[in-house]
Amino acid sequence: MMDTILTRRSVRSFEERQIPEESLNQILLAGSYAPSGRNLQTWKFTAVQNPQVMAGINTAIRNALRAVTIEEDTHPYVSFLKTKAEREDSEFLFRAPTYVIVSNQRENVNALADTAVALENMMLAAHSFGIGSCWLNHLPGLTRQPVIRSLMAELAIPEDHDIYGTLALGWPKNKLPAAPPRKAEIHIIR
Ligand SMILES: Cc1cc2nc3c(=O)[nH]c(=O)nc-3n(C[C@H](O)[C@H](O)[C@H](O)COP(=O)(O)O)c2cc1C
Repeated sequence: MMDTILTRRSVRSFEERQIPEESLNQILLAGSYAPSGRNLQTWKFTAVQNPQVMAGINTAIRNALRAVTIEEDTHPYVSFLKTKAEREDSEFLFRAPTYVIVSNQRENVNALADTAVALENMMLAAHSFGIGSCWLNHLPGLTRQPVIRSLMAELAIPEDHDIYGTLALGWPKNKLPAAPPRKAEIHIIR
């Protein structure tokens, strides 16, 4: 377990070949075994492997970003993404063969925290099989936009859900580099 935690890295370049069905099932199972506030488990995991649906998600992200109004307090990263979205060939999912969307009931105060622990379980399970992953935050940031609400309806994501995190999954194209030294301040009081 420690080796899996210490060697996991975000992967943004994937082989074209699909991950095995059994691995995807195990990854989703790992997500479902994560802890959740009050054990509510109100999350839904939507895994997409269909290339046309994947292309539709990319287009929806693109259109939603193009509809964003840039204001004074807009984060520079959002402006960067909007500019990227103007390009016809802009790709937001790293051409990953599998994409997992975690949605959760927006009225659940732990929705984001529960999603995060489920996604970390999935990332670690994936890495234990040699499968690469990267958390992608485009859909969470755009989850209230009409174009994304229509996409969510198409993907059978419940009306009372928002998207809190998503995961690109696939075989890494390259060897994973070692993680850089950590910045966390650790303080043990004995
Ligand atoms: C909440 C969260 C959101 C993230 N969003 C993105 C994202 O939208 N795009 C991306 O390429 N990476 C995203 N990442 C991955 C981080 O950039 C990555 O975890 C960080 O740079 C550390 O690298 P490592 O995962 O290889 O240790 C996200 C990670 C987290 C935890």
